Amino acid sequence: MATKVCVVYHSGFGHTAKQAAAVAEGARGVSGVDVSELPVEEFAEEKSAAWELLDAAEAIIFGCPTYMGSPSAGMKKFIEATSGRWMQQQWADKLAAGFTNSGSQNGDKQNTLVDLMTFVGQHGMVWINLNILPGNNSSTGSVDDVNRLGATLGAMAQSNVDEGADVVPPESDLETARQLGARVAKCAQRWAE
Ligand SMILES: Cc1cc2nc3c(=O)[nH]c(=O)nc-3n(C[C@H](O)[C@H](O)[C@H](O)COP(=O)(O)O)c2cc1C
Repeated sequence: MATKVCVVYHSGFGHTAKQAAAVAEGARGVSGVDVSELPVEEFAEEKSAAWELLDAAEAIIFGCPTYMGSPSAGMKKFIEATSGRWMQQQWADKLAAGFTNSGSQNGDKQNTLVDLMTFVGQHGMVWINLNILPGNNSSTGSVDDVNRLGATLGAMAQSNVDEGADVVPPESDLETARQLGARVAKCAQRWAE
């Protein structure tokens, strides 16, 4: 049976949606993995079939833009809508990971990942980190390096605020996102054994 991985994301203007698509692409590249890409808008109705996909998943990867130094309100709304499942610890022992995108190089993205990790901890889920050594941190490094922003907890991306989602985030950040998706998919297969 296929291992099920879901990517739940919010995106106000399409930049984080592009990062989410790259995470999903990376997970899909692992054979035997079934991936669902789920924008948070699909969870507006309590009876939405999207909730069932999450309940059945081995792993859920959460992502959103960093707005005002923390997860965007769209993601927070989703997070709060999971409280019934938290009460039942319905998602305990599923794997989880996170990603975020913002306008500034730093932009307080770390805080967003810590918030997502805390949310995952409340659910008793198991957090998978990025595990890619930092790029762009030496005289031979460049912005084209994978993990150019030097994240540890999850995948980070940076999108210049005057450029559309057709241009940014750059390929290095999308490759970082793909590698996170692949890592979670492989971990989920081992977890399901
Ligand atoms: C309300 C709001 C708050 C923002 N706060 C931050 C911030 O704290 N740090 C930052 O680097 N960028 C910030 N940005 C910029 C966004 O993170 C950036 O434009 C991002 O690419 C938007 O992603 P999206 O298109 O998926 O919504 C903010 C943007 C908005 C609209």
